[in-house]
Amino acid sequence: MGEGFTVQGHKGRLIFGYVSDVPVMCMQGRFHYYEGYPLSKCVMPVRLIKLLGVTHLIASNAAGGLNPSYKVGDIMLQKDHLNIMGFSGIILLEDQMTQTIGDEDDVHEGVYTCMGGPNYETVAELRALKVLHVDAVGMSTVHEVTTAKHCGMKCFAFSLITNICSIDYENGEEATCEEVLDGEI
Ligand code: HPA
Repeated sequence: MGEGFTVQGHKGRLIFGYVSDVPVMCMQGRFHYYEGYPLSKCVMPVRLIKLLGVTHLIASNAAGGLNPSYKVGDIMLQKDHLNIMGFSGIILLEDQMTQTIGDEDDVHEGVYTCMGGPNYETVAELRALKVLHVDAVGMSTVHEVTTAKHCGMKCFAFSLITNICSIDYENGEEATCEEVLDGEI
């Protein structure tokens, strides 16, 4: 990935290094469906890193928290995901993994889903996602994890809650890009 092919906050770089003695490859950015790439292109880096010998994928994303117990800055470990784009026949394969780390107040396990974006969800959409037991919503990761699993990689995925999704027409705040970027580490 060269620089400049992705959205604000995503540098579009591949970084190679070591954490302790473990060789790691870090994708500083990703391709999003809402940027106009087909999902097969969005998941291309996952297939690339598999070919380069990567065995474990740690996927992260920014997400809006739908679960009322979540607050900005919390981490949600993705115990499962809802492949909504798959509902419409747009993509790939099966579902993902469970992993547990810690039980602190600001770490949760929950269900993630990916919307096509680039707009944030309407109140009606958020209400529908709640009915489907979604805890956090973003615009990535589901197809990447699905592809990584298909390639035989072990996956761990988590969301940083950058904003709280309101399902209140009267008093709710709409999500903004600034708030999401502010919430990212
Ligand atoms: N919705 C979708 N994607 C997001 C959100 C959100 O509220 N926050 C960060 N990414």
